[in-house]
Amino acid sequence: MNQTIAREDLESLLRWYVDQGVDETIGEEAIDRFAAPAPQAAPLPVQQQAPAAPTPIRPAPAAPAPLRGPVPIESPQLVEDARALAQRCNSVAELEAAVRAFEGCALKRTAKNTVFADGVVGSPVMIVGEAPGADEDRLGKPFVGVSGQLMDRMFDAIGMSRERDLYITNILFWRPPGNRTPTLAEQAICMAFTRRHIELARPRVLVLAGGTAAKSVLDTTEGIMRLRGKWTSLSLDDGSAVPTLPTFHPAYLLRTPASKRQSWSDLLSLDKKLRELGIR
Ligand code: URA
Repeated sequence: MNQTIAREDLESLLRWYVDQGVDETIGEEAIDRFAAPAPQAAPLPVQQQAPAAPTPIRPAPAAPAPLRGPVPIESPQLVEDARALAQRCNSVAELEAAVRAFEGCALKRTAKNTVFADGVVGSPVMIVGEAPGADEDRLGKPFVGVSGQLMDRMFDAIGMSRERDLYITNILFWRPPGNRTPTLAEQAICMAFTRRHIELARPRVLVLAGGTAAKSVLDTTEGIMRLRGKWTSLSLDDGSAVPTLPTFHPAYLLRTPASKRQSWSDLLSLDKKLRELGIR
């Protein structure tokens, strides 16, 4: 075999992988996911009582994603399916099981883990970010990479932590390949679950981290530069409303440290709001 040609072939294959968003190896053996049988949908767990006190959630297992069936075609019907499924859930635990069993979002096929949430269910503050990155995908928890570590330090500065007072999720439960921007269809499907997630977690205050999360949750075309730092009220489908604060994404702050001043002002505004609500 001609080594030079083989090497070129390998290089071009690697380039193709990277172009497709495959940017790391996850196992020694290739898995033919198209040859695998379609999984059975997991039944929803029996309805549970709302916990009397905030309960730390267990970290999602960092097990490899199960083998799955054909690529789902994203369509408005999938959004309706997701909405109907989410509406049938009466607790965060039920919703988590429904999201983990859901096969209607194509992102799940390329992700290693479903990244549902971290922190304390029932916390007064719920943070909603954009999408898991490589670290979150590997560990099955949101905001555990460098931007998450910055976010932890920022909240620590106002005396809050994910172990005690924060509940953290993303508008997407699966990592987009190569961290590409999620399509509107992917966002719409996951948003059906996220809106229900907010209803069931019942935060007193919602923080939207970054422009994509803010636009998607608030259903607006306004950019984060205009939205950040301004309190708004998010109306939910169950008739409740939650005070909501869009702010910069920590990844943006890592790229643009000068903007940390505005984020600090947002954190102080959050602290003030929590005091007004009698939470601190
Ligand atoms: N960025 C996000 O928006 N969410 C994460 O979980 C990690 C990085």
